Amino acid sequence: MAILGSKVIYQMWREKEKLLGCGCYGQVALVNWNGKPAALKKAKSKTYKDCFRKEARILKALQGAGGAPILYGMKTVPPVLLVSYKGSRRLSDIMTDDSFDLLRVGLEIGYKLREIHTAGYVHSDLKDDNVMVEGSPEAPEVSIIDYGLTCLSGKRIYLTGNPETHPWYAPEVLKQQPSTYAADVFSYGYLMKGILETRPQRYKILDELFKQAMNANPHRRPTLNFMIKVIEDYTTSPQSDMNDADPDKN
Ligand SMILES: Nc1ncnc2c1ncn2[C@@H]1O[C@H](COP(=O)(O)OP(=O)(O)O)[C@@H](O)[C@H]1O
Ligand SMILES: [Mg+2]
Repeated sequence: MAILGSKVIYQMWREKEKLLGCGCYGQVALVNWNGKPAALKKAKSKTYKDCFRKEARILKALQGAGGAPILYGMKTVPPVLLVSYKGSRRLSDIMTDDSFDLLRVGLEIGYKLREIHTAGYVHSDLKDDNVMVEGSPEAPEVSIIDYGLTCLSGKRIYLTGNPETHPWYAPEVLKQQPSTYAADVFSYGYLMKGILETRPQRYKILDELFKQAMNANPHRRPTLNFMIKVIEDYTTSPQSDMNDADPDKN
């Protein structure tokens, strides 16, 4: 991991290939780093120094688990992270793309989220524009990005927001209570509900599963492993689609 100098950052930014995104913390551009494509994330304000430092620490600890980008370099003032490039297609960009089996993509997201949990972390901000999808529709490769709110399970992240405008956050997280794996289960349930809504049929068992995942009480939510098992049954045996499809919705 390199400590980047201002000149190098300025040059990379000036010669950027394109802007990849703008989030609430800053801008991200596709740049060239020693002949490799890389994503350069620049903070909007110096006050995000600690957030960027924390994100860098978590990326180092994850070492690619969950598809997390690899940290190539950083600078604290002004705050900058240079990480591996994960393509330019977010889950939010393919929500209406029929060539992808989104339920299968959703299952892959579940596997990646499980890797983050196995490393001891709660992502805390799982949503469709924090998931990158590379590869072909037949073999999609999923990466969960944006570890700005990630914490160890049981810690508080002091987030404020209105549940109506931020519906993917678990209610306890918005009340500054501890974030646990169940908070990610809530966000995963919300994301998977969005995926199901893109399908012409209804899947009663999955509908119910994602509703339970979004229970206001974290203790009443299913575990991530249980959710993965149920979704696996759907994606590996197409027959269950037929049994469960609701003829009323079409
Ligand atoms: N490693 C990466 N590879 C490709 N695109 C990225 C990468 N990191 C971020 N992006 C793009 O930039 C956007 C904002 O980055 P993100 O890390 O989510 O910042 P914020 O914390 O501001 O939301 C993402 O939604 C994505 O489109
Ligand atoms: Mg983001």
